[in-house]
Amino acid sequence: MSRSAHPAGPRHADVFSEGHYSAPPADLNDLDPKVWSHTVRRTEDGVVTVGGLEVTALAEEFGTPAYFVDEADFRERARAWRTAFGHDADVFYAGKAFLSRAVVRWLHEEGLNLDVCSGGELATALSAGMPADRIAFHGNNKSTAEIHAAVEAGVGRIVLDSFQEIVRVAHIAQSLGRRQRVQIRVTVGVEAHTHEFIATAHEDQKFGIALADGQAAEAVRRALTLDGLELVGIHSHIGSQIFDMAGFEVAARRVVGLLAAVRDEHGVELPEIDLGGGLGIAYTSDDDPREPHEIAKALGEIVTRECEAARLSTPRISVEPGRAIVGPTAFTLYEVGTIKPLEGLRTYVSVDGGMSDNIRTALYDAEYSVALVSRTSDAEPMLARVVGKHCESGDIVVKDAFLPADLAPGDLIAVPATGAYCRSMASNYNHAPRPPVVAVKDGAARVIVRRETEDDLLRLDVG
Ligand code: LLP
Repeated sequence: MSRSAHPAGPRHADVFSEGHYSAPPADLNDLDPKVWSHTVRRTEDGVVTVGGLEVTALAEEFGTPAYFVDEADFRERARAWRTAFGHDADVFYAGKAFLSRAVVRWLHEEGLNLDVCSGGELATALSAGMPADRIAFHGNNKSTAEIHAAVEAGVGRIVLDSFQEIVRVAHIAQSLGRRQRVQIRVTVGVEAHTHEFIATAHEDQKFGIALADGQAAEAVRRALTLDGLELVGIHSHIGSQIFDMAGFEVAARRVVGLLAAVRDEHGVELPEIDLGGGLGIAYTSDDDPREPHEIAKALGEIVTRECEAARLSTPRISVEPGRAIVGPTAFTLYEVGTIKPLEGLRTYVSVDGGMSDNIRTALYDAEYSVALVSRTSDAEPMLARVVGKHCESGDIVVKDAFLPADLAPGDLIAVPATGAYCRSMASNYNHAPRPPVVAVKDGAARVIVRRETEDDLLRLDVG
């Protein structure tokens, strides 16, 4: 691997004085366990390992860019959610974060259920043996074919998202001679993001049926009259990458309010409430996510308290974490290519992937961490921007990060916490073949989603 020196970027002190960036860590070789998966270590000779395997050997065998998922960590986190919620509640992993057949099998073995939101996710789940009754089907615009497939498979619940869908699902279920278990997704008027939540005016979006103006109560009324439907509960999902439980508190209070109104009007106590997903993870050392047991305790207490106040028996609670399970369990491994120091600004470090394997930075201004993983370095920190190889200046993977100033082409760097919404949102922009997902566990690595090839791309091009 090349170790050639090149001009360093601006000293961190210069940039630091602008006040936009955190200070570099005391030692750039340190790997913060908050953002790296559980089995990641740095060996004595400086190379980083995951599941006992050196990233240099992994790069050699599987190429770069590639996602490496720490299977033991995934299972541990899945189990922690399952254990925290216990037998009186259900955990539905949100497959949109990342889904593959291996993941479905891990979830099944660890006792989790699965939330899918498309025919493709449903087919993946069924083909890997997830029992249909442990699958929830979501989406704001499910096609007739998707609803048909879901009802026919016998999914445990379909989450109804509109008045039209109430009728559509009832009709399809009836035509198949089924009575489909359903929940109604309501919009509680809370939109939560990371550190704050706003409790007004968020009915203005495409998901769910609004609680505030009585629409949700009307949806319940209609669903209860249709023979093809068995209405079992109310569903709410308030946002993503949330650290503050206050938004869930408001949501739970409002959903329980609807359950009480339904009891008063129809004499029916709906037995289930789903509070959705959205729990935050650490992308950088500044993030402080909650543990599953704290979340389970907080949600359980909120729902129990609200139900007691409304004199309702406590419904069965379910949640749908996606990011919080898979996000921290994977990193993306890249090889460093061109390095371009811009005097007085920062150093642009180009890698062999980019916005096609991680669109989150371009799309959401997301923050990530990065580390040199193929060796250690004692060089001073340089302020870097990790960019991809796409023909677009917004092709940024890590906006601001400190990397050692002796970074050189051929070095391997890794971006942690890329398990969620990276491979699942990957694209073929610039005809980039999408990277593989490699599962690593106990000294063994196996491809669970293979790398795309140019042949794969050309196969679709039939013109
Ligand atoms: N349940 C429902 C109904 C959802 O819509 C979602 C996410 C989840 C559960 C899982 O949320 P999680 O626990 O993973 O935050 N692409 C964005 C996130 C979009 C989330 C959409 N719905 C991102 O990369 O941040």
